Amino acid sequence: MIEVENLKKSFKQSENAIEILKNLNLNVKKGEKVGILGQSGSGKSTFLSLMSGLDAPDSGDIRINGVSTTKLSEKDWTDFRAKNISIVFQQYHLVGHLTAAENVMLPLEILGVDEKQAQTKALTLLEEVGLKNRVHHFPHQLSGGESQRVAIARALITTPNLLLADEPSGNLDQETGQKVMSLFFDITSKYQTTTLLVTHNEQLASRCDVVYKLSQGKFEKL
Ligand SMILES: Nc1ncnc2c1ncn2[C@@H]1O[C@H](COP(=O)(O)OP(=O)(O)OP(=O)(O)O)[C@@H](O)[C@H]1O
Ligand SMILES: [Mg+2]
Repeated sequence: MIEVENLKKSFKQSENAIEILKNLNLNVKKGEKVGILGQSGSGKSTFLSLMSGLDAPDSGDIRINGVSTTKLSEKDWTDFRAKNISIVFQQYHLVGHLTAAENVMLPLEILGVDEKQAQTKALTLLEEVGLKNRVHHFPHQLSGGESQRVAIARALITTPNLLLADEPSGNLDQETGQKVMSLFFDITSKYQTTTLLVTHNEQLASRCDVVYKLSQGKFEKL
């Protein structure tokens, strides 16, 4: 499902280039959940931005569902991302002037799905994340945990081939974080979503099928 081969990424800082990802290799099967640990600054978010095409690697290849994404044009990447990839960030990134339901519907509307159909699916997902009675709330009327649950529902509404999550419980207190992540694991298991989960929390990572530590630009299997 996902093949990462000899991925390299460096950032130029004045005269120098700092190598962040030196030689990443990864194989992920369909439905598998991969936990990614690593110190701050080790390149975890950089890796996810390459996986989502928000940034391009210096060399190496990423294949998702047989598509070599490093060869996609920007426009093709936009289409490919909308159809295949969802991202959950630490800072929810909900659209402020849209209600919870409208935020969840958004990815389907971008794909051109009929509004009524998108609405029905959004309501189902919001119910699944326990927010049946918050569908008309705007983001500023939601708690952090509720906001992240909306973001999870929005990420899953397209039944993506790949879900990328960057510290999804990083902004939440421990108890709320645990509840949200239990739900995250339940719902991604239910939909058999192939998931890359970046976290600093080893206990959380251990709930994944396989765990890697990103260290000195490489993955080390734990
Ligand atoms: N656009 C950029 N230009 C220059 N350097 C960058 C850029 N983006 C990231 N870096 C550097 O690359 C390194 C890895 O950053 P990244 O955000 O991937 O780390 P991370 O593992 O996600 O850390 P954290 O756990 O703190 O989120 C850092 O040293 C960072 O300063
Ligand atoms: Mg990061």
